[in-house]
Amino acid sequence: MIIGILNSGGDCPGINAVIEGFVSAAYSRGWRVIGFHDGFEGLLPVEGGRRYEILTPNKTHKIRSKGGTILGTTSTGNFAVHVNKLGRAQVEPATMAKAKKTITALGLQALAVIGGNGSARTASLLSEEGLPVISIPKTINNDLCPASDFTFGFQSAVSVVTESIDRIRTTANAHQRIMVIEVMGDLSGWIALHSGISTAADVVLIPEIPFDLQNVVDCVMARKKTGQREIIVVVAEGARLNGQLITVRNKDNGDERLGGIGNRLCHALEEMTGVESRYCVLGHTQRGGSPVPFDRILGIRFGVEAVKLIEKSTFGCSLVLQGLNVGHIPIHEAIAQPRMVREHSQLVYTARDLGIIFGDRKPDELHAHSPKPENISA
Ligand code: F6P
Repeated sequence: MIIGILNSGGDCPGINAVIEGFVSAAYSRGWRVIGFHDGFEGLLPVEGGRRYEILTPNKTHKIRSKGGTILGTTSTGNFAVHVNKLGRAQVEPATMAKAKKTITALGLQALAVIGGNGSARTASLLSEEGLPVISIPKTINNDLCPASDFTFGFQSAVSVVTESIDRIRTTANAHQRIMVIEVMGDLSGWIALHSGISTAADVVLIPEIPFDLQNVVDCVMARKKTGQREIIVVVAEGARLNGQLITVRNKDNGDERLGGIGNRLCHALEEMTGVESRYCVLGHTQRGGSPVPFDRILGIRFGVEAVKLIEKSTFGCSLVLQGLNVGHIPIHEAIAQPRMVREHSQLVYTARDLGIIFGDRKPDELHAHSPKPENISA
């Protein structure tokens, strides 16, 4: 058996662990593995060369601790999914045909795609074309699908943010400042919520709970009155003020990308509270570095379970982590809707019980006990 693997979209810690688990499990079955470079682009022919390599256990043993990806990746390229005139999502037919030709010419009997939502969408289209595809969810945002409790990359990002905020707290305390830390998450607030709880942040602002700036100011001032020297505000890049649009920065080519709310919020808070404020954008430090053990282990498990699905000729599915178990669901279900923080969930209620300010309540409502969470799961 010859099987293939690629990773596409933003990188994150843990991708190499998936590759190592995949290669190890394949070789233990006497199979061979081809790794494609730079996402789906590796499936396209190049003049006088090729964008793939044979992966062996010698090449991949112990890469589980390495950040980034030995195969390279891209968030752009020829495989961007767009909606055609009939309203159907598709990849350019000519591009799809080239990919199919490569897969057939190499005699691949399966292709594992490590990726986020966009890559899973492309994988789903390859699967609809009859190709034997398995999707392996990957993102630091932990926002891919409600059916999966965690994606690898997420815990590593929370670990980086936690360590950064612990450091920022010491200088905030020294200067009696408000420090605003902008974190990633795309349109979800998982990184902000988990790192806010883990670092005893005062304010956590997430896209799922639009905030009123005056509420934040009043709650912060009430906290300062208790004599607290520093105020820590964690804001997700996709968070937005009540009734306002999310804050975006335009790339040179006009492509909008999230980012900038930390700066805006810092200046607004300084102006409205009179407290000296600074901000810090953690950016791609959340995507870099060596994966934490949780992500190494989850990545390895995903790689091994993908090989087991291939062994059972189970294709067109996406791996998921459900509790302690790695399972799988149809890809189209996995990409149907994102996994967002639920306001009425145990984790948000825990945060509120800790006195975390989400900006949706006035100071005297902070500890008001809302109705029982609709679902006790986090
Ligand atoms: O989707 C993961 C993510 O890290 C987002 O949180 C962030 O906004 C984006 O990728 C950054 O993408 P890029 O690496 O293309 O700048």
